[in-house]
Amino acid sequence: MKEKLLEIRGAFFSALEEVLTPQEVEKLRIEYLGKSGALREILKQMGSLSKEERPRMGELANEMRDSMSQAIADKLGELELRLLDRKVEEEKIDITLPGESQPMGRVHPTTKTIRELIDVFIRMGFVLEEGPEVESVYNNFDALNSPKDHPSRGLSDTFYFDPSTLLRTHTSPVQIRTMKKMEPPIRMISVGRCFRNDEIDATHSPMFYQMEGLVVGEGISMADLKGTLEEFVRQLFGEDTKSVFRPHNFPFTEPSAEVDITCFKCHGEGCRFCGGVGFIEILGCGMVHPKVLEECGIDSEKYTGFAFGMGLDRITMMRYEIDDIRYLYDNDKRFLDQFRR
Ligand code: PHE
Repeated sequence: MKEKLLEIRGAFFSALEEVLTPQEVEKLRIEYLGKSGALREILKQMGSLSKEERPRMGELANEMRDSMSQAIADKLGELELRLLDRKVEEEKIDITLPGESQPMGRVHPTTKTIRELIDVFIRMGFVLEEGPEVESVYNNFDALNSPKDHPSRGLSDTFYFDPSTLLRTHTSPVQIRTMKKMEPPIRMISVGRCFRNDEIDATHSPMFYQMEGLVVGEGISMADLKGTLEEFVRQLFGEDTKSVFRPHNFPFTEPSAEVDITCFKCHGEGCRFCGGVGFIEILGCGMVHPKVLEECGIDSEKYTGFAFGMGLDRITMMRYEIDDIRYLYDNDKRFLDQFRR
């Protein structure tokens, strides 16, 4: 019996040597140590042994079971470690390899201008309002005191959907929407796309951006208008940029003015960019016409206001020395990639 036991042990250990997976180890365990495994089978014959031999064989069998179980546990540990090693090896990353570059989008220069302008006016206490690009003729023209025969109403200047609906030609209709919705005091800005049936060239695009501003309250004067816009010019273009108010005419403001600032390129000397005059027009403004206030249900005896509207494309072009408005709408990556953070 002793020989048989030793034989089993020998076979078990040499089989264990060959084993490669935890599944095979388990198979081996069942084969040798399981309920009907080799060891048990042998021990069934214990009854035929002599009294003296029985405990000795029992001891040997116990020893064998213990050492075989231990060997199985060790083997499993070893296999697990080897598996882990293989995994680490397979999933190894060489961090010294050059990375794959991810193409990054950049903020469009017009968007940068819009964000900065909004910041400037929010700091001055303005709130941001919105209005639709598809507007009523009433909001875009009538309520803004635009004469029925004003040339800007013509089909050659304005995109109409039908006689009462159009693509807004400026952001001024947001003034109307705001005044109809809010009681004074009002201090709002609005940014958005506008559309005019214009030529397309270096300075004109049928779609462009404007920012509108409106302040309505008691005792608002032309001095407030000038102070606000001069502060805005200083913040956006720097301390030494000069601004000039030039009388102008808009149906919805009275008096009206246009504001020119010193040319960013020649600083007032006169150059190709400013057409030799040293100044560039950046916005239209004025005191809100009493008729416009009344149309919106605001008492023009009690309240006054000022408004301004500026072309953001032109401002963007000036800030980044872009000499053709079409670059802003072409979506040419070579152009856009130049505007890093
Ligand atoms: N809406 C005018 C334009 O498009 C600008 C403007 C706005 C003028 C507000 C005065 C007051 O040219």
